Amino acid sequence: MTFKKILNSKYPLILAPMAGVSSLPFRIISREFGAQYAFLEMIHARSLSYESKQTMELLRTNEIDRPLGLQFLSKEEDFIKSALERLNEYKYKYDVLDFNAACPVRKISSRGEGAGLLQSPRKLKKLLKVIVKESPVPVSVKIRLGWDNTDSACDIALQAEDAGIDVLFVHGKTKVQGYRGEVDYGAIGRIKKRLKIPVIASGNILNAGRAKQMFDETGCEGLLVARGALGNPWIFKEISTYLEKGILLERPAIDEIADAMQRHFDLSLECFGDKRGVIRFRKFYVWYTKGVTGIRPLREEVMRITAKEAMNKVIEKFRFKKISH
Ligand SMILES: Cc1cc2nc3c(=O)[nH]c(=O)nc-3n(C[C@H](O)[C@H](O)[C@H](O)COP(=O)(O)O)c2cc1C
Repeated sequence: MTFKKILNSKYPLILAPMAGVSSLPFRIISREFGAQYAFLEMIHARSLSYESKQTMELLRTNEIDRPLGLQFLSKEEDFIKSALERLNEYKYKYDVLDFNAACPVRKISSRGEGAGLLQSPRKLKKLLKVIVKESPVPVSVKIRLGWDNTDSACDIALQAEDAGIDVLFVHGKTKVQGYRGEVDYGAIGRIKKRLKIPVIASGNILNAGRAKQMFDETGCEGLLVARGALGNPWIFKEISTYLEKGILLERPAIDEIADAMQRHFDLSLECFGDKRGVIRFRKFYVWYTKGVTGIRPLREEVMRITAKEAMNKVIEKFRFKKISH
């Protein structure tokens, strides 16, 4: 399915780019539960042009991991150009090229990358023009509403549209807000009204009700689901069932959660090998068991586990523990 087709679906639901989280196993499990699109973990253009081992691992994908967005970050035209050359040469499989102008991490934004670009919409436009010119696939940008206020949110979005991008992703908070506080639905709605290209909204999509609120109050064309999907891939089905039929699904039973955890863990071993597969799965175990009464000792045990047999055991312990949730 192409990105255009997804945007034609009534309620496009996309797994958001999340550095350190949206790896291949997590993308596959999210897709199995209804994510229509997913993003690779963010990559710096400089690493793309050098093709470091770590970067090559981030680019790992397979035939079921489609359609797929590749998000990258930079503030330098030269690195952008050479990164795109490399991507074109090696024919990595991805369907949309997304440029990050949203990352609030100080190390990044203070040097004028990520959310740092929100302070110079003209520079953002210039970089986007280069990407649009060189990219073989549709181009998008992910922005926030501004640095510390939303006054220039529409200007930033319009400059991006003017550069020729195909889709705009907007996280409805400022850089200074980080991940805290409320989403400014009004500001996203104003952007949506001014732009001709599709607008996909992000921010606090933590359950079906929040998803409906985002569609209703902003008129956006689709949603990015981020923290709400951590240890909770069911959120995609929950949102689409609610939006399409008005039915609120119940939380999955313990057995269902344990099955998803086991599947996710097996994918993690397959993707990263036994040792790293275990370590990279630990945080997901913690997320899958969020809010479960009496889970603390198991969660503490998980953080010390290094062997796959031990991880399999704690998943089974969770399944057979009489836990209320
Ligand atoms: C752990 C984590 C990592 C993230 N990494 C990225 C990233 O690399 N690129 C990006 O554009 N957004 C990133 N985000 C932001 C999300 O894509 C999303 O816009 C944000 O979390 C708001 O959605 P939410 O409130 O539903 O979580 C990250 C968020 C989290 C929680």
